[in-house]
Amino acid sequence: MIESLQTGATTTRHYQFDIKMTNVTRLCKTKSIVTVNGQFPGPKIVAREGDRVVVKVVNHVPYNISLHWHGIRQLLSAWADGPAYITQYPIQSGNSYVYNFTVVGQRGTLWWHAHISWLRATLYGPIIILPKLGIPYPFAKPYKEVPIIFGEWWKADTEAVINQALQTGGGPNISDAYTINGLPGPLYNCSAKEIFKIKAKPGKTYLLRIINAALNDELFFSIANHSLTIVEVDAVYVKPFTTNTLLTAPGQTTNVLLTTKAEYPYANFFMEARPYATGQGTFDNSTVAGILEYKNPTSLSSSSFNKSLPSYKPILPALNDTSFVTNFTKKLRSLASVQYPANVPQMVDRRFFFTVGLGENPCPENHTCQGPNGTMFAASINNVSFVMPTTALLQSHFAGKSRGVYASDFPIMPLAPFNYTGTPPNSTFVTNATKVLVLPFNTSVELVMQGTSILGAESHPLHLHGFNFFVVGQGFGNYNPAKDRARFNLVDPVERNTVGVPPGGWVAIRFLADNPGVWFMHCHLEVHTSWGLRMAWLVLDGSLPSQKLPPPPSDLPKC
Ligand code: C2O
Repeated sequence: MIESLQTGATTTRHYQFDIKMTNVTRLCKTKSIVTVNGQFPGPKIVAREGDRVVVKVVNHVPYNISLHWHGIRQLLSAWADGPAYITQYPIQSGNSYVYNFTVVGQRGTLWWHAHISWLRATLYGPIIILPKLGIPYPFAKPYKEVPIIFGEWWKADTEAVINQALQTGGGPNISDAYTINGLPGPLYNCSAKEIFKIKAKPGKTYLLRIINAALNDELFFSIANHSLTIVEVDAVYVKPFTTNTLLTAPGQTTNVLLTTKAEYPYANFFMEARPYATGQGTFDNSTVAGILEYKNPTSLSSSSFNKSLPSYKPILPALNDTSFVTNFTKKLRSLASVQYPANVPQMVDRRFFFTVGLGENPCPENHTCQGPNGTMFAASINNVSFVMPTTALLQSHFAGKSRGVYASDFPIMPLAPFNYTGTPPNSTFVTNATKVLVLPFNTSVELVMQGTSILGAESHPLHLHGFNFFVVGQGFGNYNPAKDRARFNLVDPVERNTVGVPPGGWVAIRFLADNPGVWFMHCHLEVHTSWGLRMAWLVLDGSLPSQKLPPPPSDLPKC
């Protein structure tokens, strides 16, 4: 942060993000990566609820860049949301753009990341939103706060990895390691010194702000011989509960309390993360580890961390342990207190049913393709594989020039229903188009997302920009409104911005479309987004001046 200005009632937090290439060595290989200010992971943004955040982004690299403030509601500030070709044209090399937004009604951990191609592989960092001054957490004040960001590391250039996959139609090469705060840890070859450590004192409570910034993998996380108390997800407080292991999908954030042993334990404890994977494709099945070390209270020297002590390792669930995941996600409930109510929409104006899953595109003539049966991998929502426009959707909407950029007839349900979780239909080809779904201001939406079994039933963490939603129901098999709707939780469902659609199952969410703009929704497994598992909602202005999207800032990158 370069300065903090108190202007009237709101504080403005100014940041400058210089996007530059930086050499980083991991696993004995040095590569040049895209960073903010030369830092990897990127710098943290700290704000209080109610603050304005102003980030000047200057692009010094040969790539087009845009940054997204994942989970920030962006009330009336859709121009600052960031997904390339959705709300803005990317920032070209040599240019800059100032992202300007206010944090309203949110507190906890979120994160920022690049939102173009696969550049978020190295361009990411935490957003820490503290409660308003003088407002305590709804739990005991932690002794210290520690951000923990999981990432995914390729020795190869990730832009080359995804470009090659999109050329051949096959699955992209898998990563070489996972990382904690940029470090792969001791379980990988050639990584003995690249270990993230928490140096803890006995008898204290730490707040871990956990972020999954991995590209393509949901992750289990556990610390040996310690339990974790979950207190917040996606910057919304939850009813606290204790677990040995948590699951976090790319895009999700989880705040947990870690209480250290009362006495110096004469041991070190590994903290580990490894994937939860349900698809049929290959994936990086390796494990990242960091170490929880205790400072010996009787030692006066600062080098009081002892490496010769025994180390304990956690036991993580099996890589495909869906029953663990189901049990874990069931425990997530909104705090729903007087101070932090769960404003679940009780009435619904519009209901939508979306299938989400994989599919195929035919192989172009005179081409050999490496997708299923010689085709090209695709992914879709209601069988529409979203084609990225070359003009930003929000800009063309605002200028009244949508013709030829997007169509407004995104299907509200599958055009050709089938047994979604049974034997796949004969043709699994997708249609390719740029379509949006238009919502009048303040529409109360119920959306059921149904996973399909096409090319394998797989978990899909779906992320919605611009809103939080309530997860009112979920189940396995095909959604059955007659039976399932009656069981929705409309009292204290978890409120978040990214939710896993269970493999071979469905999830139901509700949200109020009270924020005008074009809002991207996509699978946060980057490979699925690249294949087209993405769409956009266009939320219209309301009638009052306070319900209208202001005009774009003058420095918004031009198409
Ligand atoms: Cu964190 Cu559209 O993404």
